[in-house]
Amino acid sequence: MASKKYDLVIKGGRVIDPALGFGKDAGVFIKDGLIKKIAAVSAAESKEIAALGEKQLIDASGMLVVPGLIDIHVHLREPGREDAETIESGCRAAAAGGFTSVCCMPNTTPCIDNQETVKFVQDRAKDCNAHVFVVGAVTKNLEGRELSEIGDLVKMGAVAVSDDGKYPQNPEIMRRGLEYAKMFDISVMQHAEDQLLSAGAVMNESYQSARLGLKGAPPVAEEIAVLRDIALCRFTGSRLHIQHVSTRGAVEAIRKAKAEGVNVTAEATPHHLILTDEEIGKAFNTNLRVNPPIRGADDRDAVIEGLVDGTIDCIASDHAPHPEEEKDCEFDRAPAGMIGLETTLGLVKTYLIDKGYLSWADAIRKMTANPARILKLPGGTLEAGSPADIAIIDPEKRWTVKAEKFRSKSKNSPFIGWKLTGRVRTTILGGRIVFEQ
Ligand code: DOR
Ligand code: ZN
Repeated sequence: MASKKYDLVIKGGRVIDPALGFGKDAGVFIKDGLIKKIAAVSAAESKEIAALGEKQLIDASGMLVVPGLIDIHVHLREPGREDAETIESGCRAAAAGGFTSVCCMPNTTPCIDNQETVKFVQDRAKDCNAHVFVVGAVTKNLEGRELSEIGDLVKMGAVAVSDDGKYPQNPEIMRRGLEYAKMFDISVMQHAEDQLLSAGAVMNESYQSARLGLKGAPPVAEEIAVLRDIALCRFTGSRLHIQHVSTRGAVEAIRKAKAEGVNVTAEATPHHLILTDEEIGKAFNTNLRVNPPIRGADDRDAVIEGLVDGTIDCIASDHAPHPEEEKDCEFDRAPAGMIGLETTLGLVKTYLIDKGYLSWADAIRKMTANPARILKLPGGTLEAGSPADIAIIDPEKRWTVKAEKFRSKSKNSPFIGWKLTGRVRTTILGGRIVFEQ
């Protein structure tokens, strides 16, 4: 029977795989959850394909067919805050955003600083709509005092370590964390914030914070944190990944370190690439409260420049769900964080591709091959033999972000009501359709 040769065929779309340097119209052939090949559909095959059932043949005419997107910075909140998000709901949100792999941060309750909790997350993720890779804690309970058993975490499958949300303030601890991580050739992912400089801050320190009478975190709090850890990274020869870069100072420090051959990589979020702190005074929308804070235009422009010139390797959402009742308060009392899995692709297309900063291939590279390379994750490519993790994108689809449409349990997005272009049509995980618009 013809349908035995392939389980699923995607035909008629434009295939973009930056890892392969591939960018043209082709069919994608899937068998047993793996990519069999990307190839023009031959006349003989055309017949075979025509015999496939409608569930096995996807017509992607006018669409882009890309490797499933990878987000290396998300908060899934489980265990501990299942009211905000669960691994299951977070994975549904991922699939709806075109992401087939996510890396979850360890700031849960209990914290992911031990093997049991790594295992718990992995077990919960088993039948979900995305692959979940666990990032363990650098220090026990993210307290910055005592290192976690990083070796145990890695043995259990942790792909990196991070104290995200916190910055190990003690350089001796960070040095040892980098050295411990180096033994396993994994990255330490760093939330760069000198908490002595940013104490009490609820937004960026700027003209805007002065005008609004809100305490601000100076951009130099990030720059200093990045500079210290670049120095430690150079000294230890470890791998350092700077999370959610938001300042010119950080971008310049990373650019210089990379030129010197220091093993540092970096990510930026859509919100730091698009928004400025001027937005906050308009309506005091608490969904604009994030850490690091939304900065001024000069910092925002520097982050874009860094993304364009390769200083910043990848785009990550920092998907940080918080329930409505906790965000429904004064700006300075709201918890920091915004969701991002379901808006990232549309924001990237509308504000980075359509504005001429990135090509589709650049953008897809920063959401597939590059994050896969940094954390050594499987996937990120459509190469034959790879898992059939695929996103089919409708590149010119216009849509409006609506709170009631989010699959995430939380709705804390400042982009609600925004009109975007570019949306995921179908997401495929290991050959299984996990999302269809
Ligand atoms: O805004 C943020 N929210 N930044 C972080 O670093 C942590 C995150 C969270 O967990 O809510
Ligand atoms: Zn963070």
